[in-house]
Amino acid sequence: MSRTPNIAIDGPAGSGKSTVAREVACRLGFLYVDTGAMYRAVTYLALRSSVDFSDEAALAALARKIKFSLVRYLKSGHVLLWCNGEDVTPYLRSQEVSQQVARVAAVPEVRHHLVKYQRLFAKGGGVVMEGRDIGTVVLPDAAYKFFLTASLEVRLARRERELMAQGRHVQRDELRKEFIFRDDMDRKREVGPLKVAPEAVVIDCSDLSVEEVVNRIVNRVETSSGGG
Ligand code: DC
Repeated sequence: MSRTPNIAIDGPAGSGKSTVAREVACRLGFLYVDTGAMYRAVTYLALRSSVDFSDEAALAALARKIKFSLVRYLKSGHVLLWCNGEDVTPYLRSQEVSQQVARVAAVPEVRHHLVKYQRLFAKGGGVVMEGRDIGTVVLPDAAYKFFLTASLEVRLARRERELMAQGRHVQRDELRKEFIFRDDMDRKREVGPLKVAPEAVVIDCSDLSVEEVVNRIVNRVETSSGGG
């Protein structure tokens, strides 16, 4: 019995995967799930309750109490992440959250709890899920797996533009330090590290527009009869 496939999109921060994944989901009529937002939500709630970020047990306990849900807004069609019945979306991109999130994402028990929800969200198929470990850990059976990369300078410029669009300004050197720190934590952590799944199609987005990347992914999905 065939069901709608799932699409896994992984890659480092600033590789453009959020914009691409959202657009791919829109074009295919799939549900878009941003797993980074879930790690950010745990971080935001930990900051709000003044949890000590070096206390892994406390971070794990806090994460375990969170009930995640995806809420679709009828007017805009956007799907937003809610935690314990609260829309936390406006708080997820703050500098404090961005600075601490890699530490939270390195806690195995936090990952375990979030991965359970991520698999639940993808259970019925028809999901475009983006993150770092989707093709390797969360959805190893996803029919389509993509890994997006881009040079560090391109990634920094992209994030700088996003922040400026929000009326925020961050020094390029500060941002570079944050990216290098997060990349390092993401690649080296023991559970769910950032890694290319063996079957993933790697797309270097350094010199491609969002539309070009989206077209490549959508074409591949539409022209293929589907895999595992
Ligand atoms: O994609 P992002 O920048 O919003 O991700 C925020 C953090 O969460 C980043 O440090 C990597 C981490 N993350 C993760 O460890 N696993 C995922 N599946 C998604 C994000």
